[in-house]
Order: sequence, then C-alpha cells, then structure tokens
Amino acid sequence: MENPTRTAQFLAMMEERRRDLRERHARVLPPKTTFTWEIGCGHGHFLTAYAQAHPQEICIGVDIVSDRIERAVKKRDRAKLANLHFIHAEARLFLETLPPDTTFSRLFVLFPDPWPKARHHKHRIMQPDFLADAAKRAGEGARLYFRTDFTPYYTDTKGVFESHPDWTLLSVEGAPGNETWPYERETVFQSRAAAYHSLVAGLKSRPAIV
Ligand SMILES: C[S@@+](CC[C@H](N)C(=O)[O-])C[C@H]1O[C@@H](n2cnc3c(N)ncnc32)[C@H](O)[C@@H]1O
Repeated sequence: MENPTRTAQFLAMMEERRRDLRERHARVLPPKTTFTWEIGCGHGHFLTAYAQAHPQEICIGVDIVSDRIERAVKKRDRAKLANLHFIHAEARLFLETLPPDTTFSRLFVLFPDPWPKARHHKHRIMQPDFLADAAKRAGEGARLYFRTDFTPYYTDTKGVFESHPDWTLLSVEGAPGNETWPYERETVFQSRAAAYHSLVAGLKSRPAIV
C-alpha cells in the first residue's frame, strides 16, 4: 500500500533534483545551444577524447553514478577542456530539465546497461518513450549512435527504431550504404568486449548532415 509520507518525500526529492539540474544547465548551456551528449559516460574516456578532437562543440556526459562523474571531472580538468562538462544525472531527468531552446546534434549511447532479464527490460534506456522525448530535443540532422556487446539488446533496439515514428535507421550491421561514425575511441566496456554491435539513427523527415 502507498505510504503518503514517503510518496511526498520522494516527490519533493525529485523536484529538488530538477531544480539543481536546471541551475546546472543554466551554467553550461548558453541560450539556443546545440551540444553533443553522451549517456552513461562512466569515467569519461570517450567524451574527453571526443571533446579534445571537437573543440568547437559543447560536450556533456551524464552518468547516474556520482563517483564515476567525479573521476570524469578530474579527467576533464587535467585535459583543461572548457567545452566539456560531466553531470551527475539520470538521463531522462537531464533531458526533461534542459532549457526549452537547447538541442543536441549527436547522442552517444555506448554499452548501456543491458538489463538482460525480460522483466527488467523496462529499465533499458533505449525505449520508444525515451526516444520520443529525445527526438523533441534533437536538432536538424541530429544523429544517435548506439553500441552494445549484448546481441539481444542490439536486436531489440534495432526493432524499436524500425517501428519508431520519429527516428529512422541510417546504419545497421550488414546493410549497404551505412553511415560511418564521426569519431572512434575505445570505451572501457568496449575494451572488455569480445565483439559488439553498432547502429546509427537520425530523425525522420529532416535533412541529413552533409
Ligand atoms: C555498462 S556501463 C558503460 C560505461 C561506458 N559507456 C563504457 O562503454 O565503458 C553503463 C553506464 O551507464 C550508466 N547509467 C545507467 N543507467 C543510466 C541512466 N539512466 N542515466 C545515466 N547513466 C546511466 C551507469 O552508471 C554506467 O556508468
């Protein structure tokens, strides 16, 4: 049975997190900004290297585990990268609290938690509702880059894109004319994987990046 006090405490805590994130966004995202986003950045290996190679882009990595973000921030500080930010946040809450005029141009989701058991699939980030919300913040020509070493997650995610009203697949394994990735840097989980699968998606009915 629902405990009204605990529910109220939970709602208050979520509201405080939203407030914190909005303040955080305001510090790093000037009005009408387009940024490059990584979900589940871990210790920040990929995005630090990416931001170094793309100094003109604002890059933001988010992770739900605070000590991973602390290590990522140290990495960023050592590299003295003013265009790179790591934020301790759950991906959906981060998205929900973005300023209204902010969009992303590239979204990297690299080796997200696979949640292998069917009853846990609801925890996966690559779900139709999350992708619908992300599409609202995807700028013109935006791309989503997904990579996993868990074959069923790859197959399920491909299926989600195939029937999604907002996204279309631009690169899948074994298909001709695949779009290449703009940047490669091995992540920690990638270095441990015997093999992995990748796909690229873009918004439907929007022009491609040339
Ligand atoms: C399997 S690790 C992969 C880390 C890194 N991308 C790599 O390839 O080495 C998945 C990461 O996603 C983070 N994560 C899981 N769910 C998340 C969510 N909903 N929002 C943000 N980060 C999340 C975890 O804390 C973890 O650091």
